[in-house]
Amino acid sequence: MASTWWPCLVLALLFSEAASGFSRSPLRLLGKRSLPGGAADGIEVYSTKISCKVTSRFAHNVVTTKAVNNADKAKEVSFDVELPKTAFITNFTLTIDGVTYPGNVKEKEVAKKQYEKAVSQGKTAGLVKASGRKLEKFTVSVNVAAGSNVTFELTYEELLKRHQGKYEMFLKVQPKQLIKHFEIEAHIFEPQGISTLDAEASFITNDLLGSALTKSFSGKKGHVSFKPSLDQQRSCPTCSDSLLNGDFTITYDVNRESPANVQVVNGYFVHFFAPQGLPVVPKNVVFVIDVSGSMAGRKIQQTRDALLKILDDVKETDYLNFILFSGGVTTWKDQLVQATPENLQEARTFVKNIRDDGMTNLNDGLLRGIHMLNKAREENLVPERSTSIVIMLTDGDANTGESRPERIQENVRNAIKGKFPLYNLGFGNNLNFNFLETLGLENHGFARRIYEDSDADLQLQGFYDEVANPLLTDVEMEYPQNAILDLTQNSYQHFYDGSEIVVAGRLADENINSFKADVKGQGAFNDLTFTEEVDVKEMEEALKEQDYIFGNYLERLWAYLTIEQLLEKRKNAQGEEKENLTAQALDLSLKYHFVTPLTSMVVTKPEDNEDQTAIADKPGEEVRSVTPSRAYLVGYQPPQNPYYYVDGDPHFIIQVPEKNDVLCFNIDEDPGTVLRLIQDPVTGLTVNGQIIGDKRDSTAANSRKTFFGKLGITNTQMDFRMEVTTEKITLWNGDEPTTFSWLDTATVTQDGISVTINRKKNMVISFGDGVTFVVVLHQVWKKLPGHYDFLGFYVVDSHRMSAQTHGLLGQFFHPFDFKVSDIHPGSDPTKPDATMVVKNHRLTVTRGSQKDYRKDASVGMKVACWFVHNNGEGLIDGIHTDYIVPNLF
Ligand SMILES: *[C@@H]1O[C@H](CO)[C@@H](O)[C@H](O)[C@H]1NC(C)=O
Ligand SMILES: *[C@@H]1O[C@H](CO)[C@@H](O)[C@H](O)[C@H]1NC(C)=O
Ligand SMILES: *[C@@H]1O[C@H](CO)[C@@H](O)[C@H](O)[C@H]1NC(C)=O
Repeated sequence: MASTWWPCLVLALLFSEAASGFSRSPLRLLGKRSLPGGAADGIEVYSTKISCKVTSRFAHNVVTTKAVNNADKAKEVSFDVELPKTAFITNFTLTIDGVTYPGNVKEKEVAKKQYEKAVSQGKTAGLVKASGRKLEKFTVSVNVAAGSNVTFELTYEELLKRHQGKYEMFLKVQPKQLIKHFEIEAHIFEPQGISTLDAEASFITNDLLGSALTKSFSGKKGHVSFKPSLDQQRSCPTCSDSLLNGDFTITYDVNRESPANVQVVNGYFVHFFAPQGLPVVPKNVVFVIDVSGSMAGRKIQQTRDALLKILDDVKETDYLNFILFSGGVTTWKDQLVQATPENLQEARTFVKNIRDDGMTNLNDGLLRGIHMLNKAREENLVPERSTSIVIMLTDGDANTGESRPERIQENVRNAIKGKFPLYNLGFGNNLNFNFLETLGLENHGFARRIYEDSDADLQLQGFYDEVANPLLTDVEMEYPQNAILDLTQNSYQHFYDGSEIVVAGRLADENINSFKADVKGQGAFNDLTFTEEVDVKEMEEALKEQDYIFGNYLERLWAYLTIEQLLEKRKNAQGEEKENLTAQALDLSLKYHFVTPLTSMVVTKPEDNEDQTAIADKPGEEVRSVTPSRAYLVGYQPPQNPYYYVDGDPHFIIQVPEKNDVLCFNIDEDPGTVLRLIQDPVTGLTVNGQIIGDKRDSTAANSRKTFFGKLGITNTQMDFRMEVTTEKITLWNGDEPTTFSWLDTATVTQDGISVTINRKKNMVISFGDGVTFVVVLHQVWKKLPGHYDFLGFYVVDSHRMSAQTHGLLGQFFHPFDFKVSDIHPGSDPTKPDATMVVKNHRLTVTRGSQKDYRKDASVGMKVACWFVHNNGEGLIDGIHTDYIVPNLF
């Protein structure tokens, strides 16, 4: 059986003072300082929501955090979530001022190359790393401009496994500042009906906070909500720090009137099996304990304590023995003995006297234990209806006797021959955990890490409790032949009390009417068969109501389980088989958007699909250490080339890369007026634009709509001229005109100039390498009265233009400085005002947003900016009428 780790989640937000994250390496990010009560530095996290939807044990969790930068300069915001190691991230998006940067799952190698490229270009990176016993930490940092908003949304999914009689969601909460809207909400839907549901938080110590928590369940539905107000979050009535810091745990179980539950929906099925009330099958347990020198001190003390507690739980029908290995092997008894009270008393004395000593001869220790179990069976020393288990505990690698891992594996395989499971407990970090894992998996068991900590004895005992009560052995789940495809693992050596076996698959024929599932197993006294038959139509009808929670949960549950099992099998596979398993797991991960050890999440800039900068992927178990070293990455970087453009009613948009911020202003002039946008005496480039007005012919300037209807682009050095209107494009090389219509798709290249017309959309004009403009055509529905088609003009590359460039856009191509302070509510409650100092002027500016239509002329992407009033007065050199010129050329 797969190991059963519990779903956990820690949410923490850290803030860094760093104003710019442009040259940050992932490792530096790790050492980043966090500011408690981060609001003080201007970043306000105003909302955090953890939303969990569980349908038939399949959990879909979304963590959303929203923050605003109230500081007067760009700040870095970090988003940290710790999620269960057993979960797969399925989505991550960043939204900055309304622009969403979506995540895509890619094959790891492909993604890594993109990441390495991004890092070599010095881009911000975040990471996902192993964190603690059950968690992985997901971190992302972004640079957020003054006054801007950012929303992080992380989604992950997992199948909750039943452990000691319940499903558990263990959320660890750590917001580090007071949050206006903080909420945890869980909706649970279980077709079998919910039998118990509880939620508690380690930090809820007073009644006040308790009132923020509600939990309820009825029939198939359960609900938990935790919504503390700002005041309830305070660690004391006058404090400004948060007392939300600790574990939030939701546990539940379902009705067990029937031993099994089968669900069939949309061509997939799942079969949950957990019979109750069966007598426990007697077990024959051999404990193989490492007592080498490295166990000295606390470890051997905790091992003794744990074994003593375990002895209290051993049943009289069980048989047991202890094998100790160091340089050599010693045993408590020569053969297994029954757990009679007298024998248990003797065993306690033996355990109390366990001492550490010498080297680590793991091979001989294990083989002695296995042979003892085999012999007990052959000689009928143990009951016929009993089951055997080997539990090995070690804290280091074999270093005497046979110490080659492959040879030990081979020896153990040949000795056990699949007859019983081997469970390996790895104590501490100083061992080859992969080896223990392989050894366990090859022999129907698994490996579990015991963390070197004050509760190590409880961890050991907890593991024993999981396997202490086998109710069935040799469990086979059977389905109608030829009716099922892509079945997940359907045979298990044991069913342990408190757990659950889950099998999923696809139906060969979606239109079947009934579905039959049999479970066969050997109980303590007889062989048992459990049959479950369902009417598919009736079931689909009954399950329709859960669509409201999570539509395709069954298909995703199947995919999750299949990938998990393929990855597990892959750990022990070689050569072609391994390639096969890898290919299958990769295919499914990509298809179902799961971040697994084979894939990565790449966060894409919407305007540029080729240049992906952010990556999240899943760390694996380390060979030597649980502390993170294979750590990865999420990052984000604003667009590379600064952009300057004018579009709409003419709105001028100026990006200031040095400040990672954007300025904007409007120019209001009469139709017919020609404005100078760019003039560079060195390259000889000039761009002028003519204003057209709307036909409503209003004389009130503030309600009049005006646009650019004509552009003139000249390069005197190249003897090149171009006129762009909303109907046609005319190029002159010398005196010869060439005319194109906006209905054409064409590219013209000549003497380093390149003009590409994209029919009815836009055109791209490049003057060699280093100067590129885009003209966007806006076509308005012809029948709409009083509207013109119009043009947008975008400078996407200006780095070859000289420092003497001027004009309404051109003057901003060289670095300049400004400072925004005193952000305060303005006359429009949704748009704050602020004071801006620029070019020795003190201006009142307003936070607004404009649209960038380069990608799509009808939709546009929002760009947040500081709006300078009065035709850009104070920001532009001189006044706007200085830029009026007599004609286009
Ligand atoms: C990822 O999340 C975003 C934002 O919620 C959503 O628009 C998008 O569809 C999601 N992608 C997938 C593959 O679920
Ligand atoms: C930030 O988001 C909040 C809430 O959605 C909104 O009220 C505010 O106007 C936003 N600020 C900016 C600059 O977009
Ligand atoms: C690899 O997979 C294919 C089907 O996907 C199967 O036919 C083939 O036998 C597999 N090879 C190995 C070595 O498992």
